Amino acid sequence: MHSFGFRANAVLTFGITILALICAMASISDNFNSPRPSSEIQILNINWFQKQPHGNDEVSLTMNITADLQSLFTWNTKQVFVFVAAEYETPKNALNQVSLWDAIIPAKEHAKFWVQTANKYRFVDQGSNLRGKDFNLTLHWHVMPKTGKMFANKLVIPGYRLPEEYR
Ligand SMILES: *[C@@H]1O[C@H](CO)[C@@H](O)[C@H](O)[C@H]1NC(C)=O
Ligand SMILES: *[C@@H]1O[C@H](CO)[C@@H](O)[C@H](O)[C@H]1NC(C)=O
Repeated sequence: MHSFGFRANAVLTFGITILALICAMASISDNFNSPRPSSEIQILNINWFQKQPHGNDEVSLTMNITADLQSLFTWNTKQVFVFVAAEYETPKNALNQVSLWDAIIPAKEHAKFWVQTANKYRFVDQGSNLRGKDFNLTLHWHVMPKTGKMFANKLVIPGYRLPEEYR
């Protein structure tokens, strides 16, 4: 005959097993959610473009950033940090990366947006390499989960070019 204690223990064990299964399934579903963010960035205007007195090129531009990052959000997403960077090559460095704009997206409802903005951080080259320079814009995201590991990735939007002359 089963004692009360034995039955309670069996129920508890069953409950814990179910809970473990649910957690495993949730974390698997999180891993298998393959997000497909999309983004488009237009450069609406070169506000100004000049060589600073000590020789570094600096440009100010206005962008129209459109993005749909809703697929990054799951039950386990706390928030998403997003930033836009300009990436280009120079004789000295194979990759120069200059962050231009960033934002924190607190919820899925805010993850589909467009924003028209001048660069929030200065677009300065470590030299005077920017005239006629081809560059890419990249949209990076860092997904901060409620539990588990952070993950990051980016979209590359190629094919931009700076003017040949300062203005
Ligand atoms: C900026 O992008 C949005 C969404 O794609 C579009 O509706 C809007 O017309 C664009 N603005 C300009 C000035 O191109
Ligand atoms: C810009 O993007 C193109 C196409 O994806 C890639 O081949 C090139 O290496 C990128 N340039 C830099 C500096 O990352």
